[in-house]
Amino acid sequence: MDLTLHVWRQKHGKAEGGFVTYEARSISPDMSFLEMLDVVNEGLVSRGQEPIAFDHDCREGICGTCGMVINGVPHGPRRATTACQLHMRSFRHGDEITIEPWRAKAFPILKDLIVDRSAFDRIIEAGGYTSCSVGSAPDGNAIPVPKENADLAMDAAACIGCGACVAACPNASAMLFVSAKAAHLNLLPQGRPEKESRVLNMVEAMDAAGFGTCTNHRECEAVCPKEISIAFIARLNRDFLKAVFSSGRRQAKAGGASAG
Ligand code: SF4
Ligand code: FES
Repeated sequence: MDLTLHVWRQKHGKAEGGFVTYEARSISPDMSFLEMLDVVNEGLVSRGQEPIAFDHDCREGICGTCGMVINGVPHGPRRATTACQLHMRSFRHGDEITIEPWRAKAFPILKDLIVDRSAFDRIIEAGGYTSCSVGSAPDGNAIPVPKENADLAMDAAACIGCGACVAACPNASAMLFVSAKAAHLNLLPQGRPEKESRVLNMVEAMDAAGFGTCTNHRECEAVCPKEISIAFIARLNRDFLKAVFSSGRRQAKAGGASAG
């Protein structure tokens, strides 16, 4: 396949960026999208030009680093698929493909397609942990957990922290990410003692990072490579309001969503 790429190039966060057009020649349909970029980069390097900077690590859909907007859609055209798991057979010979970084105030561009997602790390530092010892696997298995809760916690834990939900949201809201990270701990007995403070602290960190509010567009759910449901946003809102009333620690603000 031969393709024409329009790639966002930006030397650093303060530099002006813009689209640069590249031809990608003899691309195998069996290559992943990132392998296609590798081929383009090899060509750039061999011509003495700077390669396109993009984030990646596992290349198997589990680390969440490979975020990029492909033809206007975070992670590209295939549902429930990260950019690294997207294969070139999803495109056709002669296609033009536009590739951009996540666009969100809380994810400033570092270079080309790479953004700074440390705002997510700060949200996790605020509450995405349990302080109690959970022991080893046999200890965990000895604690009865209702099947429904175990399944829901597992669904929430599938979030890989990629940030596509933020990139897709017209408000750049991080509610899908925060709700999944809070739920996967809050639903389990080991996470329950810190549930209130976890919810309050994570929402506070989310607001402080500059993410927008959720207004139920559901774009986050549509692009999430792990198909995290917005029902978790409704759960977070319920937990957040309960925590606000019982703690009296802060006033509910528009940072929460009204999903569900
Ligand atoms: S909720 Fe989905 S889209 Fe958002 S960070 Fe987690 S895996 Fe990525
Ligand atoms: S490189 Fe790890 S999820 Fe894509």
